[in-house]
Amino acid sequence: MRGDSGNGRAGAVLAGVLALSMLAGPVTAKEEFSGHFQLNGDIVPLAEDGIHDPENEAINVLQSPAEAMLDFPRDEWGIIDWVKTLNAGLIAPRTGLTGMERMHTVDFDVIFRNTASMPYVRFPHKPHTQWLTCKNCHPSIFIPQRGANPVTMAAIMSGEYCGVCHGKVAFPPYECKRCHREPREDTGLRY
Ligand code: HEC
Ligand code: HEC
Ligand code: HEC
Repeated sequence: MRGDSGNGRAGAVLAGVLALSMLAGPVTAKEEFSGHFQLNGDIVPLAEDGIHDPENEAINVLQSPAEAMLDFPRDEWGIIDWVKTLNAGLIAPRTGLTGMERMHTVDFDVIFRNTASMPYVRFPHKPHTQWLTCKNCHPSIFIPQRGANPVTMAAIMSGEYCGVCHGKVAFPPYECKRCHREPREDTGLRY
């Protein structure tokens, strides 16, 4: 069973983490994401956010996120809602290295229906292509064909598919409702 050792280890680590978190009570958004996502009310110096290099002297001239992002809209987890921030015109990201590049925005959604008893997932192209190019996702993360990608929550949680970005540069996979927001056709009372 040598080939399995990687998975076995991951499984053991996961079981350990679960056991620990059960002892300690559930991990809150604040504990899990405070440094990285600069949650509402947090003042996390850049040198301590786990992303920036504390040894680099530029760290001292960068504006503090708490000041720069003071008025940005936040979601119910206290994480900045970048889609609203962009749409409100509070930021104007450069399109590329020179700023002369053009964004190619497309506006169509894909509904994922393999969601067990959860509401369906609505994947919107528009807010994604306001930040990203097609090549960021196609074809390496997603084959551009409806239903062609075997996406599961386990894969997302381990950093694949949506999880390549969500949890790292976009809101984390723990915010179920921001993805699972499309009402199912088959809910409601059954007689
Ligand atoms: C970043 C978007 C996103 C978030 C956030 C998210 N999901 Fe999902 N979820 C998906 C996608 C995409 C699928 C795949 C659906 C498909 O293949 O049709 C999925 C599938 C599922 C499934 C069925 C398949 C499986 O792997 O079990 C369940 C159950 C599920 N999600 C539960 C959750 C729960 C609970 C949360 C919050 C803790 C959550 N999801 C958060 C995108 C998301
Ligand atoms: C953030 C990731 C992401 C970006 C960026 C992105 N897409 Fe997609 N695209 C998806 C996902 C997810 C699907 C659904 C795949 C599935 O159903 O398995 C999809 C599906 C598609 C499909 C198939 C639709 C169908 O009905 O079969 C096309 C065509 C497509 N994308 C074109 C584009 C183009 C053109 C761009 C750039 C302007 C783009 N996408 C940018 C994630 C992305
Ligand atoms: C290549 C990176 C990337 C991938 C892959 C990706 N996303 Fe996103 N997503 C983003 C970014 C960046 C944003 C905007 C920032 C934010 O909201 O945190 C975003 C925003 C969203 C939003 C918020 C839209 C709104 O109007 O508020 C939803 C919903 C979403 N993504 C769902 C998904 C689902 C479902 C998948 C997988 C099928 C996925 N994303 C894959 C980067 C990605």
